[in-house]
Amino acid sequence: MNKQILVTGGTGYIGSHTTVGLIEKGFDPVIVDNLSNSKIEVLDGIEEITGIRPHFEKFDLRDKVDIDEFFKKYPNIEAIVHFAASKAVGESVEKPLLYYRNNLVSLINLLEAMTAFKIPFMVFSSSCTVYGQPDKLPVTEAAPFKKAFSPYGNTKKISEEIIQDTIDTNPFIKAISLRYFNPVGAHSSAIIGELPLGIPDNLIPFITQTAIGIRDYLRVFGDDYNTADGSCIRDYIHVVDLAKAHVVAIKRLLEKEYKSNYEIFNLGAGRGVSVFEAIRSFEKASGQKLNYRVVDRRPGDIEQVWADTSYANEELGWKAELSLYDAMLSAWNWEKNYRQKGKETE
Ligand code: UD1
Repeated sequence: MNKQILVTGGTGYIGSHTTVGLIEKGFDPVIVDNLSNSKIEVLDGIEEITGIRPHFEKFDLRDKVDIDEFFKKYPNIEAIVHFAASKAVGESVEKPLLYYRNNLVSLINLLEAMTAFKIPFMVFSSSCTVYGQPDKLPVTEAAPFKKAFSPYGNTKKISEEIIQDTIDTNPFIKAISLRYFNPVGAHSSAIIGELPLGIPDNLIPFITQTAIGIRDYLRVFGDDYNTADGSCIRDYIHVVDLAKAHVVAIKRLLEKEYKSNYEIFNLGAGRGVSVFEAIRSFEKASGQKLNYRVVDRRPGDIEQVWADTSYANEELGWKAELSLYDAMLSAWNWEKNYRQKGKETE
């Protein structure tokens, strides 16, 4: 029987790509999502790509009663990949308590359920935001936590601490936190991808929406940073590579290959890319000129960050394989495909 894995937030951007990756490696994923920031049609996309429709349960992980019901219904779950969380930085500044409640209560409920229902393994969705502006680049997993720029960032930091403290006193639980840099791109089929609701905060969806004509122009937030071309530098990692890392991490836990009960890995491409470089890469991949204007810096943006991925490369045996060009091309194909489908159903 295929091993059953709970994927919380499995209809979301990274969750849907990881669900595809799990199915392709012979796992039997069960998605839990409250659909607060994703659409049920994502299940059709996953089925179209893999030929398998994952199990799906709609409920909110803040509800302990629903969680108990769920694990009674699915007694064969062996591990959890926990994505479900709110992730809009700006919104988190406006509504900090919503973010603390959503992100922390869900995690606490799941950790409690792991003990109650004898599920030892969790892969947790963390972020490079825990490093703030690192003192040394590229940043390694050993770099200290910095003060978070937003309540969202703080929830990732606190979540990692909650997991660490839980494992310190409860060695039954084993976990791997994956610190993502900037996930971008879409599945090569253009059937699933990033689907921001409303005006996108993140760079790549803003670029593709501008190119397709939904936005007038991209605002480049600052060209006076202390970088080669003056724009901010990030480490853009293709979402399909990211998804693969989750499958590797799940296998590592199930096959007991971990070196300690709690492990942490950076997931990035290991290369710093400026905003202008990202724009050029998009223009090359799409064959289109992008309309953009340089505006003031965005408050809270850090100047530059990219990952030292050697620990993940050596220890997980995982390496980002797809290029920035691949990411831009797939993001563009996804945007076009999605808008086309929208028109067909209007
Ligand atoms: C942001 C969050 C980070 C979170 C991640 C989730 C902040 C400060 N950080 O990362 O905590 O984990 O999203 O996806 O919000 N840019 C533009 N114009 C735009 C949008 C972005 O120039 O319209 C630039 C930004 O200044 C930045 C780069 O593009 O240099 C990437 O921005 P974005 O995609 O928002 O990601 P981060 O800010 O790195």
